[in-house]
Amino acid sequence: MSNSTATPDRLSVHLHQDDWKHHLADLTRTGLQEEQAWLPPVWFYDSRGSELFDQITRLQEYYPTRAERAILERHAGEIMFLAAPHVMVELGSGTSDKTRALLAAGLAHGRLRSFIPLDCSQAPLQEAVAQLAAEYPSLEVQGLVADFNRQLHHVNDATAPGSRRMVSFLGSTIGNFTTTERELFLREVATTMRPGDTLLLGTDLVKERSRLREAYDDPAGVTAAFNLNALQVLNDELGADFETDWFEHRAVWDPQLGRIEMHLVSLTRQEVRVEELELTRRFAPGEWIRSEISTKFRPGDVVAELRESGLRIVGQWFDDNRDFALTLAEL
Ligand code: SAH
Ligand code: AVI
Repeated sequence: MSNSTATPDRLSVHLHQDDWKHHLADLTRTGLQEEQAWLPPVWFYDSRGSELFDQITRLQEYYPTRAERAILERHAGEIMFLAAPHVMVELGSGTSDKTRALLAAGLAHGRLRSFIPLDCSQAPLQEAVAQLAAEYPSLEVQGLVADFNRQLHHVNDATAPGSRRMVSFLGSTIGNFTTTERELFLREVATTMRPGDTLLLGTDLVKERSRLREAYDDPAGVTAAFNLNALQVLNDELGADFETDWFEHRAVWDPQLGRIEMHLVSLTRQEVRVEELELTRRFAPGEWIRSEISTKFRPGDVVAELRESGLRIVGQWFDDNRDFALTLAEL
């Protein structure tokens, strides 16, 4: 029996607030108790954070969205021809803005019947679903409010057996996982797929340090606001008393690990109480919380990781600058 709440507005809610909050609270407790404090990146995406992320995607310095859009605009037809899905599922869909190129190509081929965007952030998803349904009246649009780390099985509940699915995971959101999380995630996606289903994976590529740094520390301060907003979300959701002015945003490129890390650096000696976790954490001046990792990939490593998870590579596409890659793999 499915333990979900179907709402009349084309949304199935599988994230029950108490359970989700409990899960995030556990992760946060673990992260704040470690010597090098860290936070799960999911705290970024409340309504304000989702709006700030949308602003980030429009910044000149944040090239990934532009690069991925260029690939999609040029190759969506070929990708949808090769994948030939009846159903497209998008994980961590956000506004599904770039995805429209795939939807249009899928409809032009005449096979695509339904679109299932999945995101943990309900209000922005609801808005996206309403807009997409109005824009594509011939497409069945059904949003899933779910956690892509723990609830991929709901994708199978939402799709009829016998329909060929394409799962898309765009924006290089996979870069926000650790290596172990990535391995587990890809294995889980492969387990969810049926023979003939495909995965379309967007990955940001390794490039010069200066461009990476600017993309994650823009002069207008939008990324800084996005990063600091996570502390405000913790104040609202877990009764924490973070003084957001006493922390500063920082983005650091780690060439060994091939990833940008976003930090929240304590500007002073301070003590933070998180009431709902019954936890107090002290910070020395200069000590930081790691709030996000954003791994950058080499195209061959993406291919190898997809193969290791049991998938066969169908194609890989790049923008002119080779800033970003889209890889299509089949079970
Ligand atoms: N795919 C979009 C948005 C990327 S931002 C793009 O390419 O621009 C990352 C998205 O993943 C956000 O919309 C966020 O709400 C969602 N997200 C983050 N953690 C999630 C989780 N555990 N389960 C489901 N969605 C998640
Ligand atoms: C969603 N994710 C892929 C973004 C990234 O680039 O890692 C989130 C982000 N963080 C700072 N800017 C954008």
